[in-house]
Amino acid sequence: MAQVTIDPQDEIGTIHPTIYGHFAEHLGRCIYDGIWVGEDSPIPNTDGLRNDVVEALRKLKPPVIRWPGGCFADDYHWQDGIGPRETRPRRVNIHWGQVVETNAFGTQEFVRLCRLVGAQPYICGNVGSGTVRELREWVEYCNYDGDSTLARQRAVDGSPEPMEVIYWGVGNENWGCGGSFSPEDYCTEFRRYATFVRNYGRRLYAIACGPSGNDIEWTTRFFRKLYRDYRGFRNIHGYSAHYYCGTAGTATEYTVDQWYELIAKGLKMERLVVQQRAAMDAYDPERAIGLIVDEWGTWHPVEKGTHPRFLYQQNTIRDALVAATTLDIFNRHADKVVMANIAQTVNVLQAMILTQDEKMLVTPTGCVYEMYAPHQGGTAVRARIETEAVTYAQGEDEGQVPLVAGSASLKGKTLFVTLTNTHAKDEVAVTIHLLGGAAAVGGTARVLTGEIHAHNTFGEPEHVCPEPLDIDASGPSFKLMLPPASVIAAEVALS
Ligand code: AHR
Repeated sequence: MAQVTIDPQDEIGTIHPTIYGHFAEHLGRCIYDGIWVGEDSPIPNTDGLRNDVVEALRKLKPPVIRWPGGCFADDYHWQDGIGPRETRPRRVNIHWGQVVETNAFGTQEFVRLCRLVGAQPYICGNVGSGTVRELREWVEYCNYDGDSTLARQRAVDGSPEPMEVIYWGVGNENWGCGGSFSPEDYCTEFRRYATFVRNYGRRLYAIACGPSGNDIEWTTRFFRKLYRDYRGFRNIHGYSAHYYCGTAGTATEYTVDQWYELIAKGLKMERLVVQQRAAMDAYDPERAIGLIVDEWGTWHPVEKGTHPRFLYQQNTIRDALVAATTLDIFNRHADKVVMANIAQTVNVLQAMILTQDEKMLVTPTGCVYEMYAPHQGGTAVRARIETEAVTYAQGEDEGQVPLVAGSASLKGKTLFVTLTNTHAKDEVAVTIHLLGGAAAVGGTARVLTGEIHAHNTFGEPEHVCPEPLDIDASGPSFKLMLPPASVIAAEVALS
């Protein structure tokens, strides 16, 4: 039994749609096979982009897609990916299996994908092995609307109009694969690069590389240098942390304890959001710079028989629980997080979509994104959840996860509530109480659930998918039964 008390007047802030963002890297079969098959492929495509994947992505409503990496970004030279495809250079993808990168998918193809699925492009620039000039010219190529050589080149390549790329990352994981910088050295680099990133009369959002996980020291040292040495520097709009909760067992083989262990690791995102924002607030109390989590998700051992550097993993109802509890954290902290990008869109890590030749499936994680989409742009409102905790064993130790978690948002008179039941075997009754004189006058709900290892396969692609859930939403309080191992999305009309 759990109690969820929601005050529709107790507003936290607007849920930035970009919290529901994706990340797509030139890694394994994410771009090639997963998104891009080429115009001559027997797989139905639009200008080389697979129709089935585009169609599925549209339903998940990604508001933003980050590209081209990841570690790949700091070894990517954008000029390799423009012009006629047959003359584009073949490079070695040094991070991901040392396979040949044909550059068939470049800036034009990426922006085309974004337009087809309704997402904003977010491009991550190369600080580690690139130059300031390269990044400055990439922005000009994409966004300049005058008659420069690069704008002409863009037109010849297929986009006469400016591409309106707002989001620009200044490097990726520059503490590691992006150049092994110290926070102070990266801060100097960031400033130098960001100085030359011009907006050409458009909105431009420059994103600095933040820490690995919840590394407060990186954040403090970066901001201390930025603010002490460069007081008045304004060309920074976002700051991005990465957090992978990893695995417990494998993607599909785990014990009940490991089920809970992974959910508990995912829940550590809440501490990261609160503590990273607090560390930023020490220098940026007005929150002019937005906290971003532009890589996050589960990271399991690769599927047997697949390339160890291609990071291909299956995705079960456990991954869906991690996705849902994490998105609920972002919603509850809508005043702190401005963007988040799950890793990765297709065939890599905690993917929304898996493909095998001409076959495609939407994973349980992808289903969560579709179910949670109504939160995008809503006003997050306080939901107080009184629940028991479930205790699990981790080696000699014990851990705990809350039985029920969730978040709520409001659009006009529609309250959208998402909840999870983390219990592996038991259902739980939840009573929702509405405060401030609010009352429900109807509602619908859907549930995603299954045995704790349940997942979709190419033979049974809809084994785990959302189904209707009984709800009698009327009055100031009403009940819902949450099946074991479940994610619930309820839309409630308020009087
Ligand atoms: O998403 C896979 C890799 O994880 C990314 O390339 C890198 O940024 C991170 O370490």
